[in-house]
Amino acid sequence: INIALFFGGRSAEHEVSLLSARSIFQALNQDKYNIFPIAISKNGYFRSLAVSKKILFGEDKRVPEVERTNVLPEGILNLLENKIDLVFPVLHGPFGEDGKIQGFLDVLNIKYVGCNLRASAVGMDKAYMKQIFAYNGIPQSKFEILKKMDYSQQKSSNFFNEFAKNLGLPFFIKPANMGSSIGISRVNDLQSFARAVNEAFEFDKKLILESNVEGRELESAVLGSEKDIKVSAAGEIISTHDFYDYQAKYEDQSTELIIPAKLSPAAKAKIRNLSVQAFRAVGAEGISRLDFFVNEEQDQILVNEINTMPGFTKFSMYPLLFEESGISYSELLDNLIELALK
Ligand code: DAL
Ligand code: MG
Repeated sequence: INIALFFGGRSAEHEVSLLSARSIFQALNQDKYNIFPIAISKNGYFRSLAVSKKILFGEDKRVPEVERTNVLPEGILNLLENKIDLVFPVLHGPFGEDGKIQGFLDVLNIKYVGCNLRASAVGMDKAYMKQIFAYNGIPQSKFEILKKMDYSQQKSSNFFNEFAKNLGLPFFIKPANMGSSIGISRVNDLQSFARAVNEAFEFDKKLILESNVEGRELESAVLGSEKDIKVSAAGEIISTHDFYDYQAKYEDQSTELIIPAKLSPAAKAKIRNLSVQAFRAVGAEGISRLDFFVNEEQDQILVNEINTMPGFTKFSMYPLLFEESGISYSELLDNLIELALK
């Protein structure tokens, strides 16, 4: 089976993608699969196979950028010439996890691992995701949407007062389309609000504002097709940061993952059910990780979000959760590939 492994990409999660792709490449069974790595630079250039291999085997944090030329990037030519059976788009964030690559592959009639265009797009855009969750009765924290065209710096105190009234303090500001907590801030007052809005608008023209939830952060992993869904046990994140931010996710060694999380049987069952409901609500396929806020004392289990291409390093929650369920990292990859080829 010939597999093209896409990594890097145009999003701010480019560096995370390199980490995921290196782990995946090492774990893919080389007797079973011919792997064609294709590195995508931050400016969207698909590098040649030779260059891509070098990057994958090296230690660069990012795919070196090259000047774009008018010719079709070498990586794309390789893709078309090598009779690829499927693509594993190990890409996080916009232009990789949001349906764009998926649509491009659909047009070329090439199969790929993971969610289709629509589920990817909905999963990536927190505003649409939340609206679809709400329509399906999935419990989540209170939220508001703020578009750049509607926001004015001069009236920031009006906006702040309105949001503080509706959401309480503190609340969170997130770019609608981004991952790994990039561009997310916790807001306590007008000053932090103005700063947070500007920062988040650097990543997207649309923002999500969310009530703070006092509780634990849990995650579950989902694998399968709509008809046959496997859900892992839940895992818990213990972070010393204000919230589970980029640093806590990738840089701070003190962040702990507790697998499986300690939960009452009722809470376990609820998380499992909500995982299936949320996976189905966005029409996900193959893979997703569901993130939750849990406060058992207040009988509160809220879905935070779905991630259609979750972090996939050997130390990432998604593969660790399935390992706990008896599916090793390599078997997980085999499963995902089988699902994609069906
Ligand atoms: N967006 C990152 C990769 C995650 O959800 O794990
Ligand atoms: Mg996410």
